[in-house]
Formats: sequence, C-alpha cells, structure tokens
Amino acid sequence: MQYSGTVKWASPSNIALVKYWGKHGRQLPRNGSISLTLKECISETSITYRIDSAQQGMEVDFTFEGKQNPAFSNRIEKYLTSIQDHLPWLRNAKLNIESQNSFPHSSGIASSASAMSAIAMCLVDIKRTIEDTIEIDTELSSNLARLGSGSAARSVIPLIGQWGACDLEGSSDDHAIAYGEFVDPIFHNYHDDICIVSAAEKSVSSTAGHGLMDKSVFAQARYTQANNRLYAITSAMKTADLDQFISIVEDEALTLHGLMLCSEPSFVLLEPNTIKIIEAIRTYRKESKIPVCFTLDAGPNIHMLYPAAYAKDIADWRDTIIKPFCHNGRIIKDEVGYGPNKLH
Ligand code: DP6
Repeated sequence: MQYSGTVKWASPSNIALVKYWGKHGRQLPRNGSISLTLKECISETSITYRIDSAQQGMEVDFTFEGKQNPAFSNRIEKYLTSIQDHLPWLRNAKLNIESQNSFPHSSGIASSASAMSAIAMCLVDIKRTIEDTIEIDTELSSNLARLGSGSAARSVIPLIGQWGACDLEGSSDDHAIAYGEFVDPIFHNYHDDICIVSAAEKSVSSTAGHGLMDKSVFAQARYTQANNRLYAITSAMKTADLDQFISIVEDEALTLHGLMLCSEPSFVLLEPNTIKIIEAIRTYRKESKIPVCFTLDAGPNIHMLYPAAYAKDIADWRDTIIKPFCHNGRIIKDEVGYGPNKLH
C-alpha cells in the first residue's frame, strides 16, 4: 500500500499551575500536573509524507523556521524511532517536517510542548487517513505528545489539561485529560501576560531538570505535595476560590525554583527583575485587591495570570510598572485557548 499527502497543525504551549517535575520509565510523571492551554504561543507544523511498504526504513527531513536545525532534528528523529511500536507505518515512511513558532525564538519561552504536540497531531491525522476514520483520537495524540515531551501531553487538550494518575476520575500517567468542564468558567478565558525578563534561552534542559529530582532529598515530599495540591487546586477552581488558587499557583512556582536552587548541581534561573516583578505583583494585589498572580517555568520569565474581567484595570499598571522590568519591554499577551487546530 502507498499513502502520500501533507497535514498541517497548529498547537499551543501551556502553562502549568501544579508542575510536573520528576519523571521515570518511558516519560512517566512522578506526580500529577495541571495547566492552562494557551492560545497565542503556538507551533505550526506540517508533515509531507510518503508511506510505501517497498521503502525500507524511515527517512526524515526536518527544518525549523526554514532552516536545518541539527539539535532539534536529532531529537525528532529519535522520537519518531521511539514511537514506531505505536505507529508501525513510520518504518516505511519518508517525512518532510517543517515547523515554526508564533512566538519569537529568542523569547526564552519553552517550545517543546507546542512543538511536540503539533507533531503528534500531524501523526495522528496521518493515521486517521491511513485507517480511513473520521475522528482525531485525542487520547492517542496526548499519549504520543507525552512521549516527545511530558508537558506536551497537556497541550492537545482544550482549556485545561490534567496529566498524571491521581484521585481525579479518568486521570492517567499515559495521557492528559480535559478538565475545563469541571472548573468555574472564569478559567476558560483566564489571561496570561508573559513578561519576558530575559530573552536568553536560560533554562535548564528538561532531561537535566527532571533528573535532578532523582537525587533530591525532597523528592518524596515533593511528589506528595504536588498530588495534594492537585486536589486542592481543582477544588479551588471549581468554586473560583481565587485566594486559594493564587496561594497554590505562586507556591508551586517558588517550589519548582526552590528545588532547582538546592539541587545538585544547583540552578539559579531567577533574575533580579524576576524578583522585582514578583514583588510588584504582590504589592499591587494587596493594594488593589485585584486577583493577579504569577507563575514560572524552568526559566526567569513571569507568567502573570488573572481573570479576563480585570484586563482593563491591569493594563495601565502593567505597562507602567511591569514593562520596564522586561527585556526590550516585551510582554506576550496570551490567554486560555481551545487547543490544536488543523490548518489547510
Ligand atoms: C517546569 O515537559 O519540558 O515546565 O518531559 O523532559 O520534555 P520533558 O520535560 P518538559 O518539562 C516541563 C517542566 C515544567 C513544568 C510543567 O510544564 O509541568
């Protein structure tokens, strides 16, 4: 049999509220995590494929933003080889993969979640053509995205993705589940202003980062804490208890960095301006009573989270107080979105 064609998908990044930090086995998380799926920070990926049982072995050509990228290319090829048990036709496939991000390459925004989930969506779409089925299998997309990058499992889910087996019904270590329908609608268009403190790619590589947990004396306590917080934050999100939500979200970000600060080796990813923004957010929240809070990835940039209803109130303060702390005044205005989109 022979199949050929081109599929193209846009898939977003996501920002974790309770963080995935520590993994084992074949990309399995040590604790459950939950995130907001974003709208603006996306990867657009196309795969032109030719599958021919006469072809022996897989051939991959990968370009990122129009250029060859050996490091990324290597990772993609390893990934595609690793999932041939799920998609056996990859063994006889010639793939031309082109990917680009909506967000600037030098913004320090982690791109593996959007990039790997976009590839996973393309692959599941090809599988759909081969099997002549109508529906995209979201569970499989999330599973395949996870095998590329853990956090990518959550990016294929609209609104809010939860990944990792825990007390929540349907939760799994293999794939993320949709959690949006169980929370107050205030979270369905929550805003995330991403304050670019440093454009340098100053983040610990995920392999190194998760590996730090294996030797951490806090490991067990951390996994228990994360699972308890998952329970607490989902309860807070059901009732829109924003005080409780903020307290968990901010402490999660600081715990992640606390763990990195005292890891062996230690990573200091917070910049002076990261701390200044954290202080400014806390002062403003106290004075204005506006429920704005922060979270962080494994890097220095602040994700400033708040309900859409406060967007107007926050704008002036953000542009006068927060913007000067950002690299070239750069703030990416994002919000919760609906997950991957097929492009034509
Ligand atoms: C701090 O998903 O990038 O952003 O599975 O090794 O690719 P790999 O790791 P990755 O780790 C993300 C860590 C985090 C927290 C989170 O997104 O939950």
